[in-house]
Amino acid sequence: MTISEDQIKEALKTVKYPGFSRDIVSFGLVKGIDARDGNVTVQLALATNDPVIPQTIKTEAESALRGVAGVREAKVRIDIQAPPAGSGAPSVGATRISGVKHLIAIASGKGGVGKSTVAANLAVALQQTEAAVGLCDCDIYGPSISLMFGSRERPMATEDNRIIPIEQYGLRLMSMGFLLEETSPAILRGPMVTRYTQQFLRQVEWGELDYLVLDLPPGTGDIQLTIVQTVALSGAIIVTTPQEVALIDVRKASTMFEKVNVLVLGVIENMSYFISPTDGQRFDIFGSGGGEREAKRIRAPLLGKIPIDIATREAGDRGMPITAETKESAVGAEFMRIARGLRDVLPTK
Ligand SMILES: Nc1ncnc2c1ncn2[C@@H]1O[C@H](COP(=O)(O)OP(=O)(O)OP(=O)(O)O)[C@@H](O)[C@H]1O
Ligand SMILES: [Mg+2]
Repeated sequence: MTISEDQIKEALKTVKYPGFSRDIVSFGLVKGIDARDGNVTVQLALATNDPVIPQTIKTEAESALRGVAGVREAKVRIDIQAPPAGSGAPSVGATRISGVKHLIAIASGKGGVGKSTVAANLAVALQQTEAAVGLCDCDIYGPSISLMFGSRERPMATEDNRIIPIEQYGLRLMSMGFLLEETSPAILRGPMVTRYTQQFLRQVEWGELDYLVLDLPPGTGDIQLTIVQTVALSGAIIVTTPQEVALIDVRKASTMFEKVNVLVLGVIENMSYFISPTDGQRFDIFGSGGGEREAKRIRAPLLGKIPIDIATREAGDRGMPITAETKESAVGAEFMRIARGLRDVLPTK
């Protein structure tokens, strides 16, 4: 009984790359197939630092192959290559930041939905779960982390020219806002923005961190591309409001991450609803149910819903994220819940 290459490929297509929704065939990992007298050998190639990934793929692929009619023996050989640094290859192959266990990008397709507010509060919440946390403001044109953390300190450099992050409320921070005078606009051209973004990731002395949260600018442009090509992200969180115009852009952001093989950890719906402080009545200002729907559509969990909250806006403007200010607020509690969930998904031990 002859076994065709197509039959073998069909079986291999049932094997997903660990952590991703894509299979190993469409990922382009299959480099060779040899089938003779019921003995199948498949050659795969992948670039990763993680020893668990090739082992998982090997086990699953061999078991899938054994399910093909006529197969007596199945062998999967994996050629593991060193991940290329900044080569433009998918993020699966990008390099880690030494000392940093997990890199989480906070992104959105649409501007002004609350990425920076979410990034700031989530970073504080993670830190309050006893983790070492950094927050990098990758919005080079429109930095806001320096303002949200109320610091105008200037970063110092080490002797070998590495930038020392600013410490505030127990977090390590880096933002263009620390480097620019308040009055000087960020007039930067494309190549400079790429260089700054790379410097923030590569030339900052982040030290040992459990989580480094990246606050991205809105959209799917140059900075996002530079980030996914420069460092290996553990995953991305997409922030949206329940408004239709924002929800459409959830798909854009999710497609961008899918194309570069970055796992979408989930969606956070911000400005979800408003609770009247006078009578506790709830208003769904931008509609309701949209976050759930879009999360389902992109097959990612809805991590949480943050209400529109005056104290949250005021705290951000005052330079102390509400989660750092008080544990009593509903917003702070929701960020703590999201942070604890993330710790389970991205363990540090
Ligand atoms: N849940 C909320 N309740 C009240 N105000 C909020 C909330 N989330 C964000 N805001 C306010 O909305 C404004 C925009 O938020 P933020 O800067 O976090 O958005 P962004 O998505 O980072 O924007 P950009 O796309 O410009 O980077 C800020 O003034 C912020 O304080
Ligand atoms: Mg922002």
